[in-house]
Amino acid sequence: MTGKKILVTGAGGFIGSHLAKKLFNEDNFVRAVDIKWDNYIDEKYFSEELTLDLRKYENCVLAVKDMDYVFNLAANMGGIAFITEVGADIMHDNTLINFYMAKACLAEKVRRLFFSSSACIYPTYKQTAAEVKPLKETDAYPANPDDFYGWEKLYAEKMLEAFSRDYGLDARIARFHNIYGPEGTYKGGREKSPAALCRKVSSATEDGEIEIWGDGEQTRSYCYIDDCLKGIIMLMESDYTEPLNIGSDRLVTINELADIIIKISGKNIAKKYNLNAPQGVRGRNADLTIAESLGWLPEVSLEEGIRNVYLWITSELEKVKQKKSNFDTSTAGNICVKP
Ligand SMILES: NC(=O)c1ccc[n+]([C@@H]2O[C@H](COP(=O)([O-])OP(=O)(O)OC[C@H]3O[C@@H](n4cnc5c(N)ncnc54)[C@H](O)[C@@H]3O)[C@@H](O)[C@H]2O)c1
Repeated sequence: MTGKKILVTGAGGFIGSHLAKKLFNEDNFVRAVDIKWDNYIDEKYFSEELTLDLRKYENCVLAVKDMDYVFNLAANMGGIAFITEVGADIMHDNTLINFYMAKACLAEKVRRLFFSSSACIYPTYKQTAAEVKPLKETDAYPANPDDFYGWEKLYAEKMLEAFSRDYGLDARIARFHNIYGPEGTYKGGREKSPAALCRKVSSATEDGEIEIWGDGEQTRSYCYIDDCLKGIIMLMESDYTEPLNIGSDRLVTINELADIIIKISGKNIAKKYNLNAPQGVRGRNADLTIAESLGWLPEVSLEEGIRNVYLWITSELEKVKQKKSNFDTSTAGNICVKP
């Protein structure tokens, strides 16, 4: 994709900032929109920046004005702790964002809208065992997502289907399965398992201990950000209009994920288990048959991707430590100076 006028919403977040950067570097005019800017990308990665609350229709109209393509990644969301605890705000905020963005795209005659749905739309009854069968796109129905976040995403998918049928909106829908990478949230309560485990291992002492949520035998598959971006662009450029899985089909337990990170760290770390912590479904994997037929499969191995995340989080933690020690030194100096 090159030479286009493109809006990326959620461009202050993890996937949105990486996507905006890629599209900007590929010579597109990129308008970046978010309600706040707390991502970790330092260099300029967009042509234009607008700070807007997309829960308001008039802001969605401002955001999409004169754009050819819209990638809607804005959402109130987080990892398993956040989506287990928060229901009403997720449903309220994201329903408004997605509905008004679709309406604004129609009003402003946007050529195509991309929507980021989630693997959380899949029904709980298909995800009760760790050795789970990969979820096909058609497994979504009969519907029974695990949490409010999943219901809200499924509703948004249906809403876009209705807008497409009744008003001719041209939409593409990806169901992301655990996207991870550097420059994502790694602290504060919204982080996901790869970043949280990297932070715990990096912060632990050489012979330390980390806490695993649950018994660690629950399973997931993880897709590296660079692969995800290629999948998003492939889907946006394709004629495929049904929801599509973008993820990985390599199933690992949380214990295996933790062991990969511990090995990268070179530390001798023990795992202790918190059986009361939120865990989500027992097992979840992605079937990529349709994505493969469209010419896309993930390429980055979990070991390689996790190494990048571990090194990035370690350097971020180092920066925080450095800042703190500079602050302590200067404060200590001030306190010592007595008249
Ligand atoms: N990261 C994943 O593994 C994953 C998995 C499934 C689906 N998704 C979906 O992909 C999209 C991007 O996810 P992410 O991981 O980058 O999340 P993120 O939280 O890092 O980014 C979302 C961004 O949306 C912005 N936002 C929230 N409310 C807004 C509002 N009212 N107006 C404007 N902006 C607002 C946030 O400030 C944030 O920067 C989301 O729709 C998410 O639901 C992500």
